[in-house]
Amino acid sequence: MAGLIKNERIGKILGTAKTSKRLLLFLWKIDKPLFLTSFIVAVVPAFIPFANAYIYKLIIDFIVSSFGKPNVSLSFLFILMGFRLGTFVLQEVFFSLQSYVDLLVWTKLPVELYRVVLLKLSELNLQYFEDSNFKDMLQRVKESYTWRPLNMISALFYTMQSLTGLILAVLIIATLNIFLGLFILLIAVPVFFNQTKYAKTIWGLWEEHSPYRKKFWYISDLIQNGQSAKEMKIFQTAKNFIGELDKIQKKFVSQNSKVGKRRFLTTMIFDIGGIVVYFAIELFIVLLTVAGKITLGSLTYFTFVVANFQQAVNGLFRNMSQVYTQTLFVEDIFRVLDAKPTITTSKRAVKQDIHKAPLIEFKNVNFSYPGSKKAVLKNFSLKINPGEKVAFVGENGAGKTTIVKLLARFYDTDSGEILINGINIKDIDLVSWYRTLGVIFQDFIKYEYTLRENIYFGKTFEKEDIKEIRKAAGKSGADKVANSLEKGYEQILGKTFEGGADLSVGEWQKVALARAFFRNAPVLILDEPTSAIDPKSENEIFEKVEDLGKNKTVLIISHRFSTVRNADTIYVIEKGRIKEAGNHEKLMKQKGIYEKLFTIQAKRYR
Ligand SMILES: Nc1ncnc2c1ncn2[C@@H]1O[C@H](COP(=O)(O)OP(=O)(O)OP(=O)(O)O)[C@@H](O)[C@H]1O
Ligand SMILES: [Mg+2]
Repeated sequence: MAGLIKNERIGKILGTAKTSKRLLLFLWKIDKPLFLTSFIVAVVPAFIPFANAYIYKLIIDFIVSSFGKPNVSLSFLFILMGFRLGTFVLQEVFFSLQSYVDLLVWTKLPVELYRVVLLKLSELNLQYFEDSNFKDMLQRVKESYTWRPLNMISALFYTMQSLTGLILAVLIIATLNIFLGLFILLIAVPVFFNQTKYAKTIWGLWEEHSPYRKKFWYISDLIQNGQSAKEMKIFQTAKNFIGELDKIQKKFVSQNSKVGKRRFLTTMIFDIGGIVVYFAIELFIVLLTVAGKITLGSLTYFTFVVANFQQAVNGLFRNMSQVYTQTLFVEDIFRVLDAKPTITTSKRAVKQDIHKAPLIEFKNVNFSYPGSKKAVLKNFSLKINPGEKVAFVGENGAGKTTIVKLLARFYDTDSGEILINGINIKDIDLVSWYRTLGVIFQDFIKYEYTLRENIYFGKTFEKEDIKEIRKAAGKSGADKVANSLEKGYEQILGKTFEGGADLSVGEWQKVALARAFFRNAPVLILDEPTSAIDPKSENEIFEKVEDLGKNKTVLIISHRFSTVRNADTIYVIEKGRIKEAGNHEKLMKQKGIYEKLFTIQAKRYR
């Protein structure tokens, strides 16, 4: 058992070395001169104190040798004093340089790291974001990317500094007595193992608490954001949530302080042990001097070297354990960077013609969400001709949105296939496929940007054309929203930024729809786009949708039957299966589910 733990610890140490190397390489890659400067300003100052102490030794030896001698020339002494002053000045210069270089690293590294993390996240498929382990990891990265990698890289450079100091001290002591050099080196080993032990425990706690921390931030966000403030006021739930926060905090604090206490005690014991050993060495040097084996200057010099060794060892361990602790978090960043998208297109994937509506087919598709056993689509088949206007209706949870997500290849099917112009969607180049699609999801984005930008984000791969933006806004009724805003199209939307204006739910939907119209893609998919839009505006919007013409495929999901009435084909979806299909007249005649639901809705309006 003990052996196993040791091995695990050695594994962690090797892991630390690997992550350290990777982090250093990252800095090297983003800024080579900065890396080199960091290295130089870290290592050079390690030499200076020894030079300084050696000059001091020469000074003392000079004074001792000139005792009792008349007319001693002091010029040598002044030269030595000059050098000593020089080393002090140099040390100061390097200290200042070090904090300057640190500042440069601190401004550069986190930004660059987070940029690559975000880039990576934008490439990963949805599945990752629904995986709670991955989300925990992201939470840790988000909480720590600003400072942990920085602490680690500083600690790495300081480790190099301490290590240089330590090696110099050992070499110097070895010139006095080689065994003494080896001995002083050996006492460092147990201290090192003591330090690594606690680094792991703290990370274990953090890791273990990840779900709690996630909950903690979730609740904090809930209380802080204005969106949820309304409901919380009425339901008076804030106190419950704050109470839950307290509990989470207390749990973390109590466990953390237990580990802290144990670490404090053992570290103190090791430190006291160290002092005793150093004292023994000092005694040895004193005795050598008394015996006349070394000069008085050498006594001060070696005493300094031993003290400096002690400092270097302490510094080394402080920094190495810092590196070791931070590694366990920084590894998370690299783990995110190493994540591979599970949905990819092959090199020989076919480019989709982005100007033409394709033939879309679902053939015996079965699908359940990753990590879930529930079959969402069952033996699902469907054909959408180019230019067809199609509608999906069905209860909540029937699988309507899922069809769209599969069509966007956010997931792959479990069996069966989705064909685009007869080609399996897996063999279609995704970038060109996405350009063929204009999708507004139920939970579309409310960009807290200007109204103009909200629409422009529909087609960022082309240059912005305000005329086109206005035209698209006209189709969805967003032009009226613009007219009602103080700054029109230049109005910032939402409440996050200064001067922003929030919109009503329906107004936001009009803006999102304008974005879809502006995209002007051959396949337009609207998942409940008008649920909050008033009937008059809705009617106008769908007239525009019908005007889109023969060469655009439109797929609409809606719970409002008035919305879907004019579709070429209406599909009634129930529990992942198509129950009825046909146009309004046909389905009404059929007197099935559609007819029943349509009549219920119509009755309520009569
Ligand atoms: N990300 C997900 N992970 C796991 N299961 C999911 C996920 N999203 C949806 N589901 C499951 O798939 C079923 C179908 O969901 P879907 O979103 O397709 O329904 P819908 O027909 O669009 O419903 P609504 O009318 O409420 O929008 C749901 O009942 C749910 O159980
Ligand atoms: Mg849905």
